[in-house]
Amino acid sequence: MRDGKYGFGIIGCGVIAPTHVKGIEACDEAELVACCDIDEAKGQKFAEEHGEVAFYTDYRRMVEDPAVDVVCVCTPSGLHAEGAIAAAEAGKHVFCEKPLDIRRESMTAMIRACRDADVKLGCVFQSRTMPDNIKARKAIQNGVLGQMTLADAFLKDYRSHAYYASAGWRGTWALDGGGALMNQGVHGVDLLLWLAGDDVESVFARADHKVRDIEVEDTCVACLKFRGGAFGTIIGTTSCNPGETRRIELHGDVGTIISTGNKITRWALAEEYDARAADSTPPADGAVEDGATWDNKAVSSQGHVFLVDDLVQAVKEDRDPYIVGESARKAVDLILAIYESARTGKDVPVTSE
Ligand SMILES: NC(=O)c1ccc[n+]([C@@H]2O[C@H](COP(=O)([O-])OP(=O)(O)OC[C@H]3O[C@@H](n4cnc5c(N)ncnc54)[C@H](O)[C@@H]3O)[C@@H](O)[C@H]2O)c1
Repeated sequence: MRDGKYGFGIIGCGVIAPTHVKGIEACDEAELVACCDIDEAKGQKFAEEHGEVAFYTDYRRMVEDPAVDVVCVCTPSGLHAEGAIAAAEAGKHVFCEKPLDIRRESMTAMIRACRDADVKLGCVFQSRTMPDNIKARKAIQNGVLGQMTLADAFLKDYRSHAYYASAGWRGTWALDGGGALMNQGVHGVDLLLWLAGDDVESVFARADHKVRDIEVEDTCVACLKFRGGAFGTIIGTTSCNPGETRRIELHGDVGTIISTGNKITRWALAEEYDARAADSTPPADGAVEDGATWDNKAVSSQGHVFLVDDLVQAVKEDRDPYIVGESARKAVDLILAIYESARTGKDVPVTSE
């Protein structure tokens, strides 16, 4: 820590790294002090563009830098755990991009490493920071929907062939860990689980690459059974052209709440038992965000600003960050069960083991 500011170091100076810089710059108690990339020219350029911060080609060296207090993990998804574990073992806090990792054992290991080292593990799922989603979750936690019957996520994105060709790890099992669901759809899968406030017990799914020349799925449908008894669906694709705004729909016997592009677009609750719910959707304060992000570089920094500041406060107050590892892994555990079901044609229980 220098001049009352926590020093941040970023591993992976690619597409998402500038959004982390915006989050760090917006926080009075944070400062970018180092970055790391195996691509020396790219990382060096990034370091120069961001105040001549220290540059490393090996993250194991960066995490040992005494100026680094917090490590942002912005590497390909299948490398998250190794960066997080190295940071934790060096006594540094971790701020990890979504998905937490792509393997159950890796997620378990990184969560354990952070706990054993007594460092914080803050996770990125920026949809959870949006005011309308927070409002919806609180209401649902208070039971406004009654008995939940259906919880659905419609995640119809577009990614071009050029997108998949833009980095060698994209669309691979080894480093992306999946396709439309594990990379893009994981935001909506996480939001579905977080809003429903329930976990999925088992899934039945179909997944395939319909139009892109990739190993992983570009299109997936899954049928869910929640522990609390509700059913649900996830429809996830990167091959809808031009793509539709992401929509999460939650229904109970007493009402319905729908979040479209992170705005509440339907709020209908019944006044009394067995009555039909009346619509009282609040007027939209601001346009519905176009959640069908065809451009992976167009990530708003609002969520990262929230989450970086939260992590700094969590360190100062010695409390849990807003999104802890145990919670962030749920979307990945569910997606892994969906893939297994699509492979085997069987109903698959969702587990973190
Ligand atoms: N929160 C969001 O909305 C959001 C948006 C985009 C990406 N992401 C996530 O961020 C992560 C990175 O995605 P991206 O689009 O920035 O990828 P990218 O390919 O643009 O950048 C990754 C960088 O990591 C570097 N790298 C690879 N292995 C490394 C290693 N061992 N040590 C140091 N650097 C290494 C690569 O050279 C590359 O520069 C992914 O997990 C992705 O899911 C999140």
